[in-house]
Amino acid sequence: MKKVFVKSYGCQMNVYDSERMADALTADGYAQTDSADDADLVVLNTCHIREKAAEKVYSELGRVREIKEARAVEGRETKVVVAGCVAQAEGAEILRRAKVVDVVVGPQSYHRLPAMVREAGAASGRRRLVDTDFPEDDKFDHLPKLDRARIRARGVAAFLTVQEGCDKFCSFCVVPYTRGAEVSRPVSRLIEEARLLAQAGVREITLIGQNVNAYHGEGTDGREWTLGRLLHAVAEVEGVERIRYTTSHPRDMDEALIAAHRDLPQLMPYLHLPVQSGSDRILAAMNRKHTGDEYRRVIDQVRAARPDIALSSDFIVGFPGESDADFEETMRLVADIGFASSFSFKYSARPGTPAAESGEQIAEAVKAERLARLQALLEEQRRAFNGATVGRVVEVLIEKPGRHPGQLGGKSPYLQAVHFDGAGLAVGDIVPVRIVAQGANSLVGEAVRDAAAGNADKMESSAA
Ligand code: SAH
Ligand code: SF4
Ligand code: F3S
Repeated sequence: MKKVFVKSYGCQMNVYDSERMADALTADGYAQTDSADDADLVVLNTCHIREKAAEKVYSELGRVREIKEARAVEGRETKVVVAGCVAQAEGAEILRRAKVVDVVVGPQSYHRLPAMVREAGAASGRRRLVDTDFPEDDKFDHLPKLDRARIRARGVAAFLTVQEGCDKFCSFCVVPYTRGAEVSRPVSRLIEEARLLAQAGVREITLIGQNVNAYHGEGTDGREWTLGRLLHAVAEVEGVERIRYTTSHPRDMDEALIAAHRDLPQLMPYLHLPVQSGSDRILAAMNRKHTGDEYRRVIDQVRAARPDIALSSDFIVGFPGESDADFEETMRLVADIGFASSFSFKYSARPGTPAAESGEQIAEAVKAERLARLQALLEEQRRAFNGATVGRVVEVLIEKPGRHPGQLGGKSPYLQAVHFDGAGLAVGDIVPVRIVAQGANSLVGEAVRDAAAGNADKMESSAA
């Protein structure tokens, strides 16, 4: 049997797409391997969001070339595919820059990948192929149905793409160009997929989309449904114990979605809501279409609905024209809100985006200094949030065996990694765990064995 190795870069959308590409190729006769060395087919599912992300592809292709050459000496062919957002952005340019590549396929046409792989292969005298179409037909309709054994092998927490693409055109961002226009999948399909996942043992589903809260898919009544409504429908699927969603835009946090955080026990108290900057001037230049205070108001509403919610965000420092005063506004917003976790980046000029053309680019050293200051504050807040859970009992979904024998690892409702001793407990269980200490990147817990104590703490955590 031929083997395929799939490597994923970038966001959760790519993780999901990588799984679906692997599914399509498995249905076409490949077995999946986790090493490139013995692969007959190597698929790199790439990310274009920042310069560093895009550059990774070419350094990885260098390594793949060595493998391909070594295998060729033994008379074995290795086909190489570049998929994802770099594929979409650079297209045929990749074939020119990297002779090792046989197929380039964009994020909206990868259902055609098995056919392309069959036809392509420069080493065996076949063609090199590029497909970066945004086809009319929905790729999801052409992908094989989810396979129970494959779902199970991937674990008890799964992603489900509900929405793709972006119409917002933030001035720094490549996503609207690499992923195309916003498209929402119909509710009936999503419920069908959620059922399949749950039946295969998935306990937690994260609904994903570049702009997931702009979801406006066709409902089961033929009308357009919002994400809030979709969440309720997913919560009704038997076996789905936990629901999350990501990534959201502040402008699309509507009332129904905020209310779902109050009304839906399955919806976990965690919200990733990128703000990028605290300066109104920079927010306007970024085309985010909201102010710092509008963001604060949304957060107030979310916290009113779910007081214990863990908040997370993305930040960009050194956007063109960002002054010291603008940056201080970002620091002030962070101090005002208090985030449980976050991602922060130096602005990276991306070809084809409006901000890249600005004459006011910020010096690298200034970006580095601002990033260090921001990250120090965000890290302090992360530790404070995690520290506040020490001594509390939280429900942990057990996801995998821990680092030591008898140990288990899982996630709290707040998406914190928790390790604890769990003899007799199994992956997929959701159990009360008392948090006893805070490690560098995870929390240490103790399973609460006493049923009465478990119940009392359940009440404590839902009342919190
Ligand atoms: N759809 C999401 C974000 C998708 S990209 C949103 O609207 O917020 C993930 C994150 O990468 C962004 O939130 C942003 O912080 C960062 N990012 C995007 N483009 C960037 C660029 N050109 N330079 C630096 N960071 C960038
Ligand atoms: Fe990019 Fe903005 Fe769209 Fe997010 S909302 S994907 S940052 S353009
Ligand atoms: Fe990267 Fe594309 Fe996701 S650019 S962040 S992989 S949408």
